[in-house]
Amino acid sequence: MTILLDSASVDDAVAAAGLGFVRGITTNPALMARETKEPLGHLERLLAAFPEGPVCYQPTRSSFEQMRDEARAAASLAPDRVVAKLPATLDAVKLAGVLKREGVRCALTAVYSPAQALLAHEAGCVWIIPYPDRAARHSEGGLTVVDSLAAMLARLQSSTRILAASLKSSAQVSDSILHGAHDITAPLDVLRSLPSHPLTESAVREFAAAWPQG
Ligand code: E4P
Repeated sequence: MTILLDSASVDDAVAAAGLGFVRGITTNPALMARETKEPLGHLERLLAAFPEGPVCYQPTRSSFEQMRDEARAAASLAPDRVVAKLPATLDAVKLAGVLKREGVRCALTAVYSPAQALLAHEAGCVWIIPYPDRAARHSEGGLTVVDSLAAMLARLQSSTRILAASLKSSAQVSDSILHGAHDITAPLDVLRSLPSHPLTESAVREFAAAWPQG
């Protein structure tokens, strides 16, 4: 199981690296647009700020050729670390096959259906990325999306992994894993909230009260 940071902020990347349990980063064009007008230059800054592990980069352009060229340019910055993250369209499936043959690892994102999972498997993607919170907001089943993707990948005995994203709470993080996701990505505030529990906090206060802090 791998925990990733879902952010394009360099400050978030530095903070996540310090947490000790975060192994990489996912970005998307909307997150990038909040931080920069030069996404590839900004990717270099993220790679430096978070010095180990995968960084998923999603091309900001939409045509097949533009996505291909941007994904190649991103991967060339750190071939062992950059994963090309592509929205689960027909063009993206074709492109994932092309990039895989060039040695670039790919993930399909915004995955909602088992048919998309099947194609990601065929294209040799390392991850499919479902959005349980968006699925819930659009009455598309929430975490049941993860169930159906997990069933499809198990049926195919696939090495493609499920990376759950669009997670807004610690409960959604743990529930995603319980529903069959292998890995998760979440914003910094959600990652920081993972150990929070009111009874843990009251126990901490009780222990501290036994030894008044000087
Ligand atoms: C996935 O990698 C995306 O960056 C992200 O989680 C999308 O979901 P959201 O916009 O609902 O947070």
